[in-house]
Amino acid sequence: MKGSFVRVLLNLNYIFYSNTNNMHKKPNSSRRAFLSKSVKASALLPFVGSPLLASCDTSKAALPTIKKEGPLKILILGGTSFLGPHQIKYALERGHQITTFTRGKTKPTVHTELFDQIEMLVGDRNDNLEALKNREWDAVIDNSGRQVAWTKATAELLKDKVRLYLYTSTVSVYYPYYTTNLKEDKELVLAIPKDIEEQEQRYYDYGVMKANSELAASSVFGKDRTIVVRPTFMTGPADRTDRFMYWPTRLAKGGNIILPGNPQSLIQYIDVRDIAEWMIRLLEKGTTGTFNGVGPASDMTLPAYVYGAHAAFGTKVNFIPVENLTFLKENSLFFLAPWVLPGEKFKGMSRVNIDKSVVNGLTYRPLATTIKDTHDWWYSNAVTQERRDKFEQSEKGSIRQVESVLKAWSSRG
Ligand SMILES: NC(=O)c1ccc[n+]([C@@H]2O[C@H](COP(=O)([O-])OP(=O)(O)OC[C@H]3O[C@@H](n4cnc5c(N)ncnc54)[C@H](OP(=O)(O)O)[C@@H]3O)[C@@H](O)[C@H]2O)c1
Repeated sequence: MKGSFVRVLLNLNYIFYSNTNNMHKKPNSSRRAFLSKSVKASALLPFVGSPLLASCDTSKAALPTIKKEGPLKILILGGTSFLGPHQIKYALERGHQITTFTRGKTKPTVHTELFDQIEMLVGDRNDNLEALKNREWDAVIDNSGRQVAWTKATAELLKDKVRLYLYTSTVSVYYPYYTTNLKEDKELVLAIPKDIEEQEQRYYDYGVMKANSELAASSVFGKDRTIVVRPTFMTGPADRTDRFMYWPTRLAKGGNIILPGNPQSLIQYIDVRDIAEWMIRLLEKGTTGTFNGVGPASDMTLPAYVYGAHAAFGTKVNFIPVENLTFLKENSLFFLAPWVLPGEKFKGMSRVNIDKSVVNGLTYRPLATTIKDTHDWWYSNAVTQERRDKFEQSEKGSIRQVESVLKAWSSRG
């Protein structure tokens, strides 16, 4: 059971998929016309005069300034896995220019047609930042930050060449989640406590690394030029994990479906496109500061999540409530209840405060849209039949596993 706990937690982590494809391409001059109207309109949203915007330092004239109107030159450290392709799509639609920086290994699975409209630099955050030298951008988005030293190195290299540094962090910086209503100004754990078990250490690893990386970015760029976004579990097309695939695939088929866990438990998630698009808008507005990247807009219980997800399909379903956490634990079914983990340390995990982010422009698409789009992506050519079969057909795949657990549950009466 400990193992499945670790899996759930580590699934918050960044998963790297490698292939041998060389993605280096030349920039294409034909870019879409800039949607100045939408940018002008968004600039009028409630941020004008807000303390956040006021804190944006405009005194450093030597730096390229962030343009309030007109296209931005945006560098994405990363850009080809899950979050990146959605950022690229939205940014191109709004007329911005994109450069990515990767090792050239990870192949995008969505919006692949857009990658000949961007510049793709090749290097390695471990030991080769050559391609980033002597270049200027309006903003950098650090998606691929996996080590504090990586973020420190790119921040230092780019600090006089780029106006804004957006660091993609995570709500895992709040671990252990002893309290609820977690706000951005909560003090973070910056060192892994000594003398703890290996498993506990793994819980801390990711959050502590991300918290220190946030600090590395802001100490080099200055708080007035740094944006930190802390997403919760991201879901949507191009996910490299299968952790969100149970509900879209199972609800689409209909029949007997487990409704797991305490019906009062709250859950939080965010559509990857809501995060991606909001990040681009933060750059357009030059809104600096730290923000939780969390949804949905209002408290959502687990049954509300499942019913909301089912709204994407017209199937006949029969929900079977299984509240017994011990039974779910014994059968490694925590992944079904989107991360309603028991224990004091997880108390606030799905109670992250969203007020500051919403005031600063985070918006949410409906859950049913997220689920339907994820379902359609899963059954498209973007996903291999082998991956689908592994998840849906194999004995150890989630779907078959849950079916056998459901039988065991029924036989218990
Ligand atoms: N998924 C979630 O639910 C979740 C939740 C909270 C926070 N986050 C955070 O969200 C971020 C988004 O990750 P993403 O994978 O979706 O971003 P992405 O920008 O779409 O892809 C990550 C990129 O990193 C590149 N990369 C990996 N190792 C590299 C290296 N050594 N040097 C240069 N580039 C390298 C990969 O390309 P190559 O392999 O070709 O180098 C890939 O393009 C991560 O920081 C993660 O911690 C994710």
